[in-house]
Amino acid sequence: MRLGLSGIRKTVGRVAERRCPMALALTAAVLSLSPAGCDSGASAGVADAGASASATASVVQVAAHVDPPSGGQSRAQVYESVRQMTALGKQLFFDPSLSGSGKLACASCHSPDHAFAPANSLSVQLGGSDMHRTGMRAAPTLKYLQSVPAFAEHYHESDDEGDESVDAGPTGGLTWDGRVDRGGDQARIPLLSSFEMGSSPAKVTAAVKAAPYADAFRAAFGEHIFDSDDATFKAVLQALETFEQTPELFYPYSSKYDAYLAGKAQLTKAELRGLQLFNNEKKGNCASCHISQRTLDGAPPQFSDFGLIAIGVPRNRALPVNRDPQFHDLGACGPERTDLNGRAEFCGIFRTPTLRNVALKKSFFHNGIYHSLEQVLHFYAERDTNPEKFYPVSKGKVQKFDDLPQRYWTNLNTDPPFDRKPGDKPALDAAEIKDVVAFLNTLTDGYKAGN
Ligand code: HEC
Ligand code: HEC
Repeated sequence: MRLGLSGIRKTVGRVAERRCPMALALTAAVLSLSPAGCDSGASAGVADAGASASATASVVQVAAHVDPPSGGQSRAQVYESVRQMTALGKQLFFDPSLSGSGKLACASCHSPDHAFAPANSLSVQLGGSDMHRTGMRAAPTLKYLQSVPAFAEHYHESDDEGDESVDAGPTGGLTWDGRVDRGGDQARIPLLSSFEMGSSPAKVTAAVKAAPYADAFRAAFGEHIFDSDDATFKAVLQALETFEQTPELFYPYSSKYDAYLAGKAQLTKAELRGLQLFNNEKKGNCASCHISQRTLDGAPPQFSDFGLIAIGVPRNRALPVNRDPQFHDLGACGPERTDLNGRAEFCGIFRTPTLRNVALKKSFFHNGIYHSLEQVLHFYAERDTNPEKFYPVSKGKVQKFDDLPQRYWTNLNTDPPFDRKPGDKPALDAAEIKDVVAFLNTLTDGYKAGN
């Protein structure tokens, strides 16, 4: 259970998938349809699919919910429109000509072979006009974002899962600090950021006009789309957002663990032990934030409750921004996010990431400080029993939580495994850590029986 944030955060059950996240609502909005499709979402279709990739494309679901036709489009037209946008979004996603340098595509940082996380093990990726600039954050996976709810300062269970009166605290939103809700608004960030793609609506328009898919773009968005840079830019964002909702690419639910839940695969002894340690409230207690069970209505687990939580990740001194000792990435209270500036209770919190496909990642936590799952697990198990292993030691004293000014320490989570002190036994020993890592490896999509 996530209790932290000076007590505002109360016991939270599982976040079900029944809200309208980045996914279907957005496609629906793009097409000016009723967002009725959200409730069933991808989840209902795949709840029992287990290992098999979901055949229920969101486009089909969106189309299926447009009966009778709304927004002046027939079901077939809606289907066709989503298909066109998905195809364009895919081309845009892989196109470096959208960037100022001409060298950086979305896919450069979000590699399809690595669950749309980086292929390399840099803590933060290189970008900008000279391809040498860096931001302050690790590039996350783009998979399973369809279930991230819109950001809310106070999150209440909205369905039969839990007690609606319970405030789960800040939850949801895209990026590590939850500052945008829609894939399209999110895509604007890297396209315009001086340390990422460093582009502009005018440059993006020029690139699309000159691209091999320019005609397809006109066919999808209208003959006159290129007349306005702003309209073109918006269309680009819509297409990217639609592409990011392709179920078979972004939320196939095809891991060994999904097969196991569907009764179609068995976990090894080590994987099973790992699962138990992951769930055990007195051991890893991981599942209290990284949900591992199906929702009551049978939707597959997302391995996140999407809560924004402070866990005191050490300062990554290798990041150029951190050369300035006064600089701190405080997550939801800034500096990247600006609407909660000055709200002390939001300082140091970051959105709990999904652990699906986490074994394909090469940098972990918002600042990419760790590069193996073992390191991450040691941090969880020993942060409080052996803090000197993770934080700098000066004059014999450990500088714990060295990336969070002390006035915000009340925001830090204190649930197991973060409930210990030096001298206590770590929540997990080395053999147990190996087992949890073995379990995390079952969360990688693309499992085939017999592997
Ligand atoms: C230079 C590397 C880089 C490039 C290029 C890049 N991204 Fe990202 N992406 C990131 C980083 C870093 C974050 C986390 C940002 C944050 O938390 O502030 C991110 C976050 C995201 C997220 C939110 C993920 C989440 O967990 O909420 C989405 C969606 C996304 N990017 C899509 C895109 C798209 C679409 C493009 C191309 C238009 C793109 N990215 C280009 C590095 C990159
Ligand atoms: C109190 C909630 C909570 C608990 C308990 C918890 N986590 Fe996390 N987890 C988070 C948050 C929040 C982050 C992101 C923190 C950050 O980057 O600042 C995270 C990040 C991670 C990451 C990095 C993922 C990535 O994409 O970078 C891994 C791996 C992980 N957790 C595994 C675990 C395991 C294994 C356990 C149990 C030993 C566990 N977590 C327990 C909230 C939690």
